[in-house]
Amino acid sequence: MDYESSNWISDGVYYYPHLLGGIMVTAALLGLSRSYFGGVVGLPSLLLPCSLKKKSEKRRVRVYMDGCFDLMHYGHANALRQAKALGDELVVGLVNDEVIMAHKGPPVLNMEERLTLVSGLKWVDEVITDAPYAITEKFMNHLFNEYKINYIIHGDDPCFLPDGTDVYGFAKKAGRYKEIKRTEGISSTDIVGRILSSLKDPNVCEDQNGNDVQPNKEILSKSSHISQFLPTSRRIVQFSNAKGPGTNARIVYIDGAFDLFHAGHVEILKRARELGDFLVVGIYSDETVSEHRGSHYPIMHLYERSLSVLACRYVDEVIIGAPWKITKDLITTFNISQVVHGTVSENSPKCDSDPYEVPKTMEIFLLLESPKDITTTSVAQRIMANHEAYTKRNAKKTQSEKRYYEEKKYVCGD
Ligand SMILES: *[C@@H]1O[C@H](CO)[C@@H](O)[C@H](O)[C@H]1NC(C)=O
Repeated sequence: MDYESSNWISDGVYYYPHLLGGIMVTAALLGLSRSYFGGVVGLPSLLLPCSLKKKSEKRRVRVYMDGCFDLMHYGHANALRQAKALGDELVVGLVNDEVIMAHKGPPVLNMEERLTLVSGLKWVDEVITDAPYAITEKFMNHLFNEYKINYIIHGDDPCFLPDGTDVYGFAKKAGRYKEIKRTEGISSTDIVGRILSSLKDPNVCEDQNGNDVQPNKEILSKSSHISQFLPTSRRIVQFSNAKGPGTNARIVYIDGAFDLFHAGHVEILKRARELGDFLVVGIYSDETVSEHRGSHYPIMHLYERSLSVLACRYVDEVIIGAPWKITKDLITTFNISQVVHGTVSENSPKCDSDPYEVPKTMEIFLLLESPKDITTTSVAQRIMANHEAYTKRNAKKTQSEKRYYEEKKYVCGD
C-alpha cells in the first residue's frame, strides 16, 4: 500500500478509516475530515513525517497501540506518551462504536469524539479507526505488512479472551511486543464512578436553572476512591513542551475549567491556536470552578485537568489555577495579544461581573464560535442517562481494580 495516495492526512495525523471493511465508517469520517479537521493546516512540523517520503532514509521505528479510549483521560494520554517513546512514530488503533457496544455496552463517547480526542494528543502520529477488539494473527500481519508497524505496545495488565488466549500472544511470539506501565490513580471506571456518585448525591439538588440549591463541600465524591492520583512534578515535565514563545510571537489566551476534557475542548483549543503562534491556557482552580458551577464540580481536580490540557497538541503552555477574571497584570505578564472565549460553555450561575471586561476594554477580546455543543455537563448526563448499565459495568470493574490495588507492588515505571 502506498502511504501517500491511499490515506488522508490532517493536522499531521494520518487516518486509515478503511481497514478491514468499515465502508460506512469511512464515509462518515471523510465527511468529518472536512467539517472538523479540514480547512486550516495544523502544526507544520508535524505535517509530513519525512521518513515516509524518502524511501532511502533509515526506517523509523513505528509502534502501534490500540484501545477504545472512551472517556479519554490523562492515563490514556500517558500510556500513549510512553508508547511513543518506544519508537519514532505512534499509530493508534481505535475500536469502533459497534465493536465497543458488542463487548462492553454503549460507549459514552462516539467514534467521532474519540477520534478528535485521540488525534488531538501531541504524541499521536496516525490513527486507524477500525481496529479489532482483539488482535488476530491476520490483523497483526496487516499491521506489520501494510502499516509497517515494528512493535505492538500494550500496558502491563494481562489481557485474555474469554477462551483464555492471550490477546497479545501472536505479537509476543513474533518478538514484536513491548510493554508499558499502567498509569496509577486514574481509570475510566473511576471517572464514571465520580460522576455517578456526585450527581446521584441527594444533598446536591438542582433548581430549574441547574443551579445548586444546597451546596455542600464535604460530599465531593472524590473521597470515595480506592486509589489516589498523586501529582508529581515529573509528570508535568513529561507532558510539557518546555518551550517558551519565540520573539515576536503572537500569544493567544483562553481560559476555562476544562473539566472532563472532551472533543469540544480539543476543537476550541485548535481554533484558538490558529489565531496566533503560542497558546496559553488558563485553567481555573477547583475552588473557582465549584464557586461558579456548583459544588459537585469540578469532576477532575486542577492537576488532572492541567495534564489533559497539556497533552493536547494545540496547547503551548498552561497556567495552573488561573484567575476567573482576566486582569491587566495577567495580560502584561504573558504579553497576550488576544483573549478568546468559546460561545458554548457551562452556564455560570454567579455572574457578578464580566470576567472579560479588561480584554474587552483593550479590544483584544474575541468570542469564538464553539465548533461543538458538547459540554462537561452533557458528557456527565450521558452517563447518568445510561446510569444502570454503567453502574453494573462499574461494579464489576471496581472489584478487579480493587484487587489490583491490593496486590500491587512497587514497580519502577515511567
Ligand atoms: C509581545 O507580542 C507582540 C505580538 O503580539 C510582539 O510583537 C512583541 O515582540 C512581544 N513582546 C515581547 C517582549 O516579546
